Amino acid sequence: MTRSLLLIALCGVLAACTADTPDPAQIATGARVYEQHCAACHGAKLEGQPNWRERLPNGRLPAPPHDESGHTWHHADELLFAITKHGMVAPYAPPGYESDMPGFGDRLTDEEIRAVLAFIASHWTSRQVRDARAEILRNARH
Ligand code: HEC
Repeated sequence: MTRSLLLIALCGVLAACTADTPDPAQIATGARVYEQHCAACHGAKLEGQPNWRERLPNGRLPAPPHDESGHTWHHADELLFAITKHGMVAPYAPPGYESDMPGFGDRLTDEEIRAVLAFIASHWTSRQVRDARAEILRNARH
């Protein structure tokens, strides 16, 4: 391979990496926020509450996992941000929807919300979920 071809290939690889590389300081902040504000319901290991697909006696849903076994990764970044900031209220849920997911807009800054979502997203590492998520994010921008 000539030197210029090698350079082009290397730039391609680097660009692919930087677009995707999480900021370690942001992830560390997110881990702290998660432990303090989310783990009680969504689980210390992001595993969610037991039988999270079945409604509780009061008709509400338990907290789903945030790891790859849940459906958090199916949602575009903007929606995850809005749900975390405002809770499961309209327009992110049907009007009058009752949910135990609190809004954190009064307790967390926008940066902290972005950090905790980055921390959660850092657990989505399988090829399958990363590819599917790239597609979801591409579609959300259109
Ligand atoms: C008091 C319990 C509780 C706490 C604390 C809590 N959640 Fe939730 N969360 C829930 C429940 C319950 C749901 C499911 C709501 C529903 O569908 O009705 C949920 C759903 C969500 C969803 C939507 C997931 C999806 O796939 O639809 C996101 C995103 C979320 N929570 C993020 C967070 C973050 C981030 C924190 C911490 C900053 C947090 N939650 C703290 C109970 C909680």
